[in-house]
Amino acid sequence: MSRTPIISGNWKMNLNHFEAIQTVQKLHYSLPKEVHDSVDVSVHPPFTDIRSVQTVIEADDLDIILGAQHCHWEPTGAFTGEISPAFLAKLDVKLVICGHSERRDLFGETDEMVNRKVKAIFQHGMTPIMCCGESLAEREAGETEAKVLGQVAAGLEGLQAEQVASMVIAYEPIWAIGTGKTATADDAQAVCQAIRVAVAASFGADTAGAVRIQYGGSVKAGTTEELMAQPDVDGALVGGASLDPEEFSRIVQFAAG
Ligand code: 13P
Repeated sequence: MSRTPIISGNWKMNLNHFEAIQTVQKLHYSLPKEVHDSVDVSVHPPFTDIRSVQTVIEADDLDIILGAQHCHWEPTGAFTGEISPAFLAKLDVKLVICGHSERRDLFGETDEMVNRKVKAIFQHGMTPIMCCGESLAEREAGETEAKVLGQVAAGLEGLQAEQVASMVIAYEPIWAIGTGKTATADDAQAVCQAIRVAVAASFGADTAGAVRIQYGGSVKAGTTEELMAQPDVDGALVGGASLDPEEFSRIVQFAAG
């Protein structure tokens, strides 16, 4: 089964709305037109930028998918500071990251919360990018697969096979995020393959053949080609390098092949 590669830029808490507008415009103009036919590109700005970026994408008809970094599972209510998935959908957000290790480690997000978010994102007509990944201690203790597959199973619990087929799973080893250390292409492939095998066991071979799996963690233009050559790596979730539209554009172009 052929899967369209997907490259996503997670801007984290960087770029105010003026900078975000410039970045998305520069990204668009530095990407050759043909690239858009062979690779999906999304940006995930901070919430305060989303309306501005949406306006630019729509007004200039940019071929870039609007994403968010996080949301709550309830559509409305007394949740001070939280972000409604319904409001994101209203802003034409298509892809929402959930379960990022920074949310899990710094803000106490549990597997159960991630599962509720995944379901809420679908309920509001958007697509989740569900993150998983092991810490350095877990990797050194030989617990990588147990940790990652446990997160994946918990995050996907109760979903329909068609939902899983349509979503994105991002494997992001925590020790590789923002550290300059990238998992070797072989390591990334081994874990992405294990995720696909686990999806096949729970949801069937067709679903496993369709779900897109990204690698994330210090991805740069120089590492993209080798990562994308792996049979079970369908894209990248890019942090730091996505803040520079030229570097991000090179990553997208390597992914386009
Ligand atoms: P870096 O690319 O900065 O390591 O970040 C990866 C990441 O966490 C993307 O979600």
